[in-house]
Amino acid sequence: MTLHVDQYDEVAESYQQADLTAFRTLVEAHSLLDTLGPADGLRVLDVACGEGFYTRRFADLGAGQVVGVDSSAEMVRLGRSAEEEQPRGIVYHVHDAARMPVLGEFDVVAATYLLHYAVDLDHMRAMCDAMAANLRPGGRLLTLIPNPAMDPAGPGSGKYGFTLDWPLHPVDGDPATLNVAVGGSTVSVSLRYWSERTYREVITGAGYTDVRWHPLRVSPDAPRAFFDDYLANPHAVLVEAVAPRGGSY
Ligand SMILES: C[S@@+](CC[C@H](N)C(=O)[O-])C[C@H]1O[C@@H](n2cnc3c(N)ncnc32)[C@H](O)[C@@H]1O
Repeated sequence: MTLHVDQYDEVAESYQQADLTAFRTLVEAHSLLDTLGPADGLRVLDVACGEGFYTRRFADLGAGQVVGVDSSAEMVRLGRSAEEEQPRGIVYHVHDAARMPVLGEFDVVAATYLLHYAVDLDHMRAMCDAMAANLRPGGRLLTLIPNPAMDPAGPGSGKYGFTLDWPLHPVDGDPATLNVAVGGSTVSVSLRYWSERTYREVITGAGYTDVRWHPLRVSPDAPRAFFDDYLANPHAVLVEAVAPRGGSY
């Protein structure tokens, strides 16, 4: 199934049950949380928080304030329901990241898998502006994005529970598809390919500085050989950038 409008409302529960645990824990979360560093007392805004996978991690790691934002009401419902079951003090809001108001002055804005859902460059620019407006001067944006250098004909990530497809020679705005294994079936969501140059231009255009491009890395606790195929053709990259001093919004 490939959905175009509120696609995550349709797949929220499936995504929550996706078979991604090893990859997410040993590669993705390891890379993100290692780059985040100590979370004690941090004010963290998790944009495109989904059902709260990382939102809860930030709270569990000792963040002082944690707010989650997602455009999918269904994803936010799942996040709130986990919060009711086990309260951590997380507050969730439904907003498109591009139209998100100022919700606080955060030390860190995390956006794991957001920018590629921008339908055009203005949409992506508005997301980056709204996230900057929520960061304290000098605060950090940590965003996981699809790796524009991923070769769709290279080693795939099927054995890790997902695949990402785009044309062999993609250009900005080309449609792409993420396929996620859930039990015995597959859930597909639509996104767009954007080049490294475009991501960098949009992020720096929103006033962020010190843009750093971190390849994902494997936890020392992981069975390293299992992730060799992933590291040969990683589907994602972690981008870190420092918020405008004084804000650009
Ligand atoms: C692949 S999921 C990732 C969820 C979460 N960040 C995680 O890592 O588990 C992508 C999320 O982005 C959200 N999303 C897509 N476009 C968005 C937008 N314009 N504004 C806010 N959230 C958006 C979707 O609803 C979905 O929950």
